[in-house]
Formats: sequence, structure tokens, C-alpha cells
Amino acid sequence: MESSEFVKELQELQQQMLSGLDNLELVQSESDNNLDLPNLLKIALKNEIEATELAAYWISSTPEIDVKLGFARQAGDEAKHYRLIEKRLAEMGVDLTGFHPLAMGYSKMFEYLKSIEDTVTRLACGQFMREGIAVKRNEQFIKLCESRGDEETAKLYREIIQPDEQYHHQLGKTMLEKYAHNPSAQQAAREAVLKTLQIAEELRGIAEKKLGVSQIPGC
Ligand SMILES: [Fe+2]
Ligand SMILES: [Fe+2]
Repeated sequence: MESSEFVKELQELQQQMLSGLDNLELVQSESDNNLDLPNLLKIALKNEIEATELAAYWISSTPEIDVKLGFARQAGDEAKHYRLIEKRLAEMGVDLTGFHPLAMGYSKMFEYLKSIEDTVTRLACGQFMREGIAVKRNEQFIKLCESRGDEETAKLYREIIQPDEQYHHQLGKTMLEKYAHNPSAQQAAREAVLKTLQIAEELRGIAEKKLGVSQIPGC
């Protein structure tokens, strides 16, 4: 199919998954101390470091110059997000001494995405899907911050992080329209996208169970 049709198909897949997220209500856990924003922002730090590293990892093995530069821009943005969230945590009085975002290892999503070698599949899973989901998750996270009266964190996400994540998603879309012409590359990307969505749902379920909250910031 035409690359534009292929992108539409991915968009529909994503919509289905995201409409599921729309229906999620705040889940309150029995252990209320797990529900605080600093814990969610620490998860955000892990997401940002993984997103930085993944985009950087793909730079040297992506032959298409515009995609390569897209990953480079993304790596820089995600590193910037890491620093801004770290700064916000410090303002909140959270001591990050001894905190290492990767102390528990890399996520299953990171390991899966890192194994992808084809540009079209990288764009479909890493930029189009992952970043699209991030935009949605962050919208929900912003609402959570507002409902807790944390206008500063809401503002950081609304004004700085969200426009970047939106741009990463858009970049994935534009590059797919340019490069996703080959039917076998489309098929490989389609299968990988389903796997990515499945992992995203699985991880969200685990986090929700552990933290009792469904508004996990994305990246
Ligand atoms: Fe991102
Ligand atoms: Fe980010």
C-alpha cells in the first residue's frame, strides 16, 4: 500500500489503544504513599534516560540522513527533559542522592526497541507509536498534577516536554510517509508495532498495579 495509507493504518491502531487509555480513571491504591508525584517523576526519569539512549543508539546505524538527524534531535530533547525533571524534583525537596534511574535495569520496551534494525520499523515503533502514546500519557499526567495542585510540574509538561514529544511523533509520521513504501518493510513494521503496543499495555498494567495510579508520564 501507499506509505500514506500505511501511516493511516498505524494511526488507527494507535487510536484504538489510546481510546482505552481515555477510559481509565484514577486508580487509588491501598498504599497511598506510593501515589505521590515524586515517585511518578522518578519513573519519568527512567523513561527519559531510556529514550535518550535509544535515540542515540540508533543514530550511527541509521543510513537515512534525515532520520539520523531526527534521532539526534530526539536524543538531545530527551536528555533535556531528564535534566528538567531532575530540577523539578530538587525544587520539590526530593533528594536524588544515590538514585540511579537504571538501578533496576532497562525496561522490556527498551530492550525490544533496541533490537529493531530496520529504519521503517524503528520509525513506526520508536517514534510514531512510543511518542504518540507518550503524548497521550502526558496529557493525563498533566491533569493528575493539576488535580494535586502541582501547577509547576503541570506547566513543565504542558509548555516544554509535550511540544517536544509531539514533535518526535510528528517526525515519525513524516519520515514514514517518506520511507515506508516497501510492502515487506510495512509488514515487518506492522508486526513490530503490535508487539510494541502489547508491551506498552503490559508495562502500564504492571506500573498501575504497583503504584495504584494509571497516569504514568510517558516519553
Ligand atoms: Fe520523546
Ligand atoms: Fe521525553
